[in-house]
Amino acid sequence: MALDDTLVTARHFEYIAKRTTGEDTFLASLRAAAKKEGIPPISIGPAQGSFLQIVLKLARAKTVVEVGTLAGYSAIWMARALPPGGVLHTIEYLEKHADFARRWAAKSDVADRIIVHQGDGRSVMKTFPDGFADATFLDADKKSYPIYLKESLRLLRPGGLVMVDNAFAFGQLFDKKPTDDEAPAVQKFNEVMARTKEVHGIIVPLGDGCWVGVKR
Ligand code: SAH
Ligand code: DHB
Ligand code: MG
Repeated sequence: MALDDTLVTARHFEYIAKRTTGEDTFLASLRAAAKKEGIPPISIGPAQGSFLQIVLKLARAKTVVEVGTLAGYSAIWMARALPPGGVLHTIEYLEKHADFARRWAAKSDVADRIIVHQGDGRSVMKTFPDGFADATFLDADKKSYPIYLKESLRLLRPGGLVMVDNAFAFGQLFDKKPTDDEAPAVQKFNEVMARTKEVHGIIVPLGDGCWVGVKR
């Protein structure tokens, strides 16, 4: 470890959170309503939402494709980074989640910038043309991450961004026998991502770890 490397602790993340634009009352009510309707509390956190916004603004992204909508929490964070006329397409397999997200996107400040597609990410991604997207955010079933990566590289324009959630495998990245049945898929995917020459990527240690990659 170089002398200027600091070991980041939970205290640092608390410090970061306190100094980062947090969620507004709308997103807080969305989370509460989702909980009430029995939707699992597995969305990204506010610091990661803010980070995704910053990255999308820097990239001047106009068209974003998200796989794994859940309640629409990350979708609304990201859509708020888009210019007028920008669109975030978000894909969700479960009807219950897609319906909830549609309802909440409709009453959000970015209602005109979110389209919820109900279906399997693996087939819905195929309906978008080559070079369609400025960025993708992959956060659905982890076993399909390699497929979503491949489709992302087709969808992205050169210089486009592929962002992938849960690179730390729900905290079980270094476990030899992880209890979460999706953790091994993440461990394998990280190796795929690291070997993909078409992507200049890095894992950002926010939330459960978030890949940010630029398509060369
Ligand atoms: N991005 C969301 C969290 C997504 S949780 C947020 O941060 O707010 C993962 C979601 O992916 C769940 O809603 C799950 O139903 C959905 N999902 C699982 N498999 C899928 C598939 N094959 N295609 C599309 N969505 C899928
Ligand atoms: C799970 C999925 C996620 O995308 C996440 O960020 C956290 C948990 C899960 O399936 O348990
Ligand atoms: Mg996730």
